[in-house]
Amino acid sequence: MPDLLFEPVTLGGLELPNRIVVSPMAQYSSEGDGKATDWHLMHYGNLSVSGAALVVFEATAILPEGRVSPRCLGIWDDAQIEGLKRIVDFARRPNGAKMGIQLAHAGRKASVAPPWQGGDALLPGEGGWEIWGASDCPYPGRVAPIMPDADHLENIAQAYLSALRRAELAGFDLVELHCAHGYFLNNFLSPISNTRNDEWGGDLEGRLRYPLEIFRRLRAAWPQTRALGIRISGTDWVEGGWTVEDSVVFARALKAEGCDYVALSSGGSSPDQKITVGPGYQVPLSAQVRREADIPTIAVGMLSEPELANDVLVRGDADLIAIGRGMLFNPRWAWHACQTLDGTMRVADQYLRCHPSMRNLPR
Ligand SMILES: Cc1cc2nc3c(=O)[nH]c(=O)nc-3n(C[C@H](O)[C@H](O)[C@H](O)COP(=O)(O)O)c2cc1C
Repeated sequence: MPDLLFEPVTLGGLELPNRIVVSPMAQYSSEGDGKATDWHLMHYGNLSVSGAALVVFEATAILPEGRVSPRCLGIWDDAQIEGLKRIVDFARRPNGAKMGIQLAHAGRKASVAPPWQGGDALLPGEGGWEIWGASDCPYPGRVAPIMPDADHLENIAQAYLSALRRAELAGFDLVELHCAHGYFLNNFLSPISNTRNDEWGGDLEGRLRYPLEIFRRLRAAWPQTRALGIRISGTDWVEGGWTVEDSVVFARALKAEGCDYVALSSGGSSPDQKITVGPGYQVPLSAQVRREADIPTIAVGMLSEPELANDVLVRGDADLIAIGRGMLFNPRWAWHACQTLDGTMRVADQYLRCHPSMRNLPR
């Protein structure tokens, strides 16, 4: 089989020149108002010229109470559009990456300090705020979240739609609905965090209902010429929790609603999760969902060996590869992978002369 990492692919309405995605990574670098700062311009601007075909912005809160920390990026207010648009506009240059954004609500895991300040829970009045979950079942060791009633669920659905409209105005090419890592929409899916006994809880069908409803409304409002996907935790890694078989059922339903891809991460719903971490440890989740739900997938998690990343694609276990920490460690990861795999790619004109094959050219 030929190498695939540097082959083009279509994701929804997007033509991508290769299969490399910069995974969403929270920067905790707003000043408390959810607005993008110069840090974000530097960070995403740099990644937009990394050679990755797609850069997905970090979890961006659709409501202030949906932030993980007080310093998270937000998209709940029109005043936040300008800062996001500035970065997207910067990225829109020849050979720049397509830009996506992850719409997020942190649910019962909201209101904590940034990781480098300890990551501890912040209570209302101490820099934190009241938190909301699918039900009032707390994350172990944390305060109980408030369970939203029907009116409140409708308000949250409207907040997702308003955030989507802002993402469109900012010019994003792709929206990813964050449904992973024990955050709000994931709280509905997992039996660990959803103890509701109304239409939004109970059996698998009930637990899928609210996240599916949100996805359906976003799809109806998002242009077909762009892409709309979702990130899920493919398993809770806990006995009695959400399983990869549940993920397949969810992915089939998402496909029927017009979902362009499912990105397969895992875990986050329980501190009891048992994960054996190693290169490609989440790839089986992507492979099973791709095969059994027949939907494009993005694999992620310790895939920064270029041969491994390429093999995942060649085996048919995913359609794209997301790289997280490997991109922070080496923002030219894609260039090096291209050299290793003997592929071809386009880079910014300003950087052309650094390429090993070009260094000896006359000035
Ligand atoms: C600093 C940092 C921030 C992250 N923030 C997010 C986030 O905002 N949304 C998300 O879905 N995953 C987030 N993740 C998880 C990554 O997207 C990725 O799934 C994970 O790091 C595994 O991939 P890797 O081994 O290539 O780093 C974050 C990871 C890191 C290291």
